[in-house]
Amino acid sequence: MNAVDVERVLVVGSNGLLGQKVAEQLLRGFNYHVTLTSVESAPVREMPAAPYLQADITNRKAVKDLIASVNPDVIINCAAMTNVDACETEREIAWKINVGGVEHLIEAARKRSTAIIHVSSDYVFDGKSGPYTEEDRPEPLSYYGKSKLASENALRTSDVPFFVARTMVLYGYAEGVKANFALWLVNSLREGQTVRIVDDQIGNPTLVDDLAFGLIRAMEMKRRGIYNIAGKDIVSRFDFAVSLARAFGLDASLIQPIKTAQLNQPAARPLKSGLITLKAEVDLGLKLSGVEQGLALLKSQLVRAGK
Ligand SMILES: NC(=O)c1ccc[n+]([C@@H]2O[C@H](COP(=O)([O-])OP(=O)(O)OC[C@H]3O[C@@H](n4cnc5c(N)ncnc54)[C@H](OP(=O)(O)O)[C@@H]3O)[C@@H](O)[C@H]2O)c1
Repeated sequence: MNAVDVERVLVVGSNGLLGQKVAEQLLRGFNYHVTLTSVESAPVREMPAAPYLQADITNRKAVKDLIASVNPDVIINCAAMTNVDACETEREIAWKINVGGVEHLIEAARKRSTAIIHVSSDYVFDGKSGPYTEEDRPEPLSYYGKSKLASENALRTSDVPFFVARTMVLYGYAEGVKANFALWLVNSLREGQTVRIVDDQIGNPTLVDDLAFGLIRAMEMKRRGIYNIAGKDIVSRFDFAVSLARAFGLDASLIQPIKTAQLNQPAARPLKSGLITLKAEVDLGLKLSGVEQGLALLKSQLVRAGK
């Protein structure tokens, strides 16, 4: 299959932040037959050019039937249980979605040599010595991180053509999505609330539009293997928050620094993390947004959406 042979694309987890952006960008060029699927009974946003089929990826038969009816050339899997603390306390369901779901996709894809594009996380690392390349040794601290690493390994040990993007701290706007860090912060600061943001978690905030673009580019270029796709700048979460306040003309003095340990969260976080994106930049030709550029785009998207 070469790039022009890709016709049918199935976007799994299409109701999520990344899923929506991937769907939107795929439909922009009119090059693909796109089918959307997520666990909810309806799409959060109707996209007339792309039918929506409800499916729970933890249900093996549902996945098998879905893939048989869509017969995709490529599956872009954006579905996951993404609440890191919930994954720590609800381990069984986290594993079922993040690992079992991917295994079901692999099983169904294998029968028709469908390629799988999947998304993993910097949480596969322990955050002792970031930023990390694709070759560094994973050592997850949290159950979420363990499940994402297991999902990567399920693909690595399968005979299905695959591409995995490791990413981190996704931010962006799409209709009907749960608040991500940046949207939550904009709302809190607009309401004049004081917020406590950790200054000891370091990494690359990633504009979701850039990641969606990278996944589609990897699909079109038929790239295989593991790639880091994340924002250009490596900063602390606190510094990102201050940049956001400045970009949106909000009061940065409402942002107070704290340490991760003070939050007593169920799941341990990698602290000195970050992803080195050279491979993706060179091999996929990506131009990844830095914090200032990404926040400017987010701001214009929110203005356009009347938010
Ligand atoms: N967000 C980040 O900062 C971040 C960082 C690193 C990596 N990632 C990875 O990037 C990918 C996309 O993340 P995102 O932020 O776009 O996540 P998201 O907004 O939470 O979207 C995930 C989507 O998957 C759906 N889903 C959950 N369980 C499902 C199931 N059993 N069957 C079918 N669909 C199911 C969710 O539905 P519900 O909302 O109803 O559960 C949601 O629509 C994930 O693989 C995530 O692990 C994200």
